[in-house]
Amino acid sequence: MKEFSVSNDTSAFEVPAVLDENGRLADHCARQAVTIMDTHGLVILTGLLSDDEADVGLELISQTIEDPDRSQCSFASETDNRYLRRDFCSLPSTPRVTSFAATLCQRVEGVVSEYCGRSRPVLEIATFTSYLGSSHQYIHRDPAGVISLFAAVEDVSEQQGGTVFVPGTHMYGGADNNHDGRAYEWMELFRTQCNYRILWHNLKKLWGMRKADRAALAPGEFRDRVFSIKWDQHQPNLLRFVLGKNSQFSLRMLGPRRVWKLYRNREALDDLFSLVQTAPRKGTVILYRSDLLHAGPDNRSPHARRIFGMSIARDIIDPKYWHDGYSPHPSLTDRPLSFGDLLDSAPLPAPSQRVEHRLSA
Ligand SMILES: [Fe+2]
Repeated sequence: MKEFSVSNDTSAFEVPAVLDENGRLADHCARQAVTIMDTHGLVILTGLLSDDEADVGLELISQTIEDPDRSQCSFASETDNRYLRRDFCSLPSTPRVTSFAATLCQRVEGVVSEYCGRSRPVLEIATFTSYLGSSHQYIHRDPAGVISLFAAVEDVSEQQGGTVFVPGTHMYGGADNNHDGRAYEWMELFRTQCNYRILWHNLKKLWGMRKADRAALAPGEFRDRVFSIKWDQHQPNLLRFVLGKNSQFSLRMLGPRRVWKLYRNREALDDLFSLVQTAPRKGTVILYRSDLLHAGPDNRSPHARRIFGMSIARDIIDPKYWHDGYSPHPSLTDRPLSFGDLLDSAPLPAPSQRVEHRLSA
């Protein structure tokens, strides 16, 4: 985004995946990943999936997206979903989806088991696709107490909108003691500053799309994205902004005291926190704590951005709270899976077995 600086240097958060003889992250690699996750709130495991494994993920995503009866997510970017700017949908618990999810869980067990016990529920297995013309999400925290995983099943460029994170803004006991005991206050100011810029970025973009050749607005789309009374936390909806009906960013957050603080500290905030955009290569897996500030940017390229996602609870979780932030497929609701279930499930077959499987299919 031009309106403010976003770094593309993710090297401080990356760990090249080294697997042991059982196909799981080697101990030293898992330990390094946990240290980075604790320090920054996310870790990027490069090369965790082979090209063949990533291809399986892409095939599962494509099958789901092509299904007219797919189960679309209900927690974020509904308007983008409606106008096919995004396609966020959950994957059914078929044996192949479960095997793919099991492969991922087993490979990162050494990291995720530091946070999630075996009995903790899998909240969602989903795919997040975005197309040209989508809105940049506001910087937000997902419901707390969850570890989320994104797997790149093909290369994702910056233009396609790899997820943006604000490293070091995750919440834990004593985190507020940082920055002279004002860490959470500074984080909220930084978030407000970013979201103000995101609002203008989205509005300018939508205005330009009125006469654009590509990604032209559909009838009623401008009104639905800017003046609708419908709930959607990630649109540049001026009506809901003015009425204070958007919990991510609204006029209520811009009282005189806060605006003054933002103005006085605008440069100091940029020294304390920075936005980092990921552009994961095929086979890369990102793990992040759900309370880390982040956002899904808009896709500024003509190529769809597809990504596989999965979330696992770190604690017991109230069903209402669960469904506010995650959309399990009805088949997952009917037959719940825990982290332990996925550790015990059959993973994708090894490459040689996979060839035999294809030949006999
Ligand atoms: Fe999110």
